[in-house]
Amino acid sequence: MGVRRFDIEAGGETFAFASETEPKIAFWLGKYPANRKRSAVIPLLWLAQKDNAGWLSEPAMREVADRLEMPYIRVYEVATFYTMFRLQPVGKFHVQLCGTTPCMLRGANDLKDVAKRMIGAKMHITDDLKLSWEEVECLGACVNAPMVQINDYYYEDLTPESFADILGKLQNGVSVEPGNFVDRLNSAPAGGQTSLTDAGLFDGSRIISSLPNLGGPAKEEASAAPLAPPPEPKKTTLIDAAKPAGAAEPEGERPEEFDPATGKADELKRIKGIGPKNEEALNALGIYTFAQIAVWTPENVAWVEGSLSFPGRIQREEWIAQAIELAQGGETEFSKRVDAGEVASSKDEGDE
Ligand code: FES
Repeated sequence: MGVRRFDIEAGGETFAFASETEPKIAFWLGKYPANRKRSAVIPLLWLAQKDNAGWLSEPAMREVADRLEMPYIRVYEVATFYTMFRLQPVGKFHVQLCGTTPCMLRGANDLKDVAKRMIGAKMHITDDLKLSWEEVECLGACVNAPMVQINDYYYEDLTPESFADILGKLQNGVSVEPGNFVDRLNSAPAGGQTSLTDAGLFDGSRIISSLPNLGGPAKEEASAAPLAPPPEPKKTTLIDAAKPAGAAEPEGERPEEFDPATGKADELKRIKGIGPKNEEALNALGIYTFAQIAVWTPENVAWVEGSLSFPGRIQREEWIAQAIELAQGGETEFSKRVDAGEVASSKDEGDE
């Protein structure tokens, strides 16, 4: 491993964790005795990296050291040793491209050519600040080689064409669901499962887990109904996995997603009609901010209502009008009540 140095100049003088990160920090500190809190150095560095646009500045490392009462040099040692910590700025979408043997044998070098052509040299950031890339060692998804990790998610079974398509879409503000990009279920054989095909061996349940240091969707459990026939091979995504088995793709157009690792999420429960359960469901669809909801088109509304199975409710409850007001820093009668602590959300008034 080469010498890894901090980008002192780009890091500025100060760093502060986002207020939303504090509960996550408390979660990790709570896992260790008070006199061993330095054991939380890796998760805290990870959280600091997320709050610092995907890389660790020197002030961010100092903040972690101060929180954990560690000598600065000890934190620098950890951050410079583990390549999961980046020490210079990266693009909004940072690509970690696996170049280790299984991926290399399955075409990683062709993916590298795409990255060089569309992004530039390793760790170069495109002019629009959207993309950067680096080569990394095995990311543990060799069975779906070749693959890349973009921010927190894996994109697997790639070809130069599918990888170029992903990069192009991200650069143009189009979200791309992670997962594998050939017709197979997770890492099952292409063309369908060849073993464990007896439906009685599998209850059909699937779980997406989330740790507090990840910004993504919380865990959800799909239907536990037994699968009658062996599952059909299909392109599966995180969103698909959150749907009940057999759910059809909703009509309409999926709204643009927001990556909470790249900015501040809003408390959607300040919108009347969105309780904790709906907020969680919206987050799982990539919807985190008032600004997103404020620009929904009728097609977007149809897609969201179809996804969450409550037709007509968004218009009826005037989510978009409320979101426009809140996105501009204004207030609504309902948000004032939430802010005053009179209600936690519309769940207190019967909404989910
Ligand atoms: S070799 Fe690429 S994920 Fe393991």
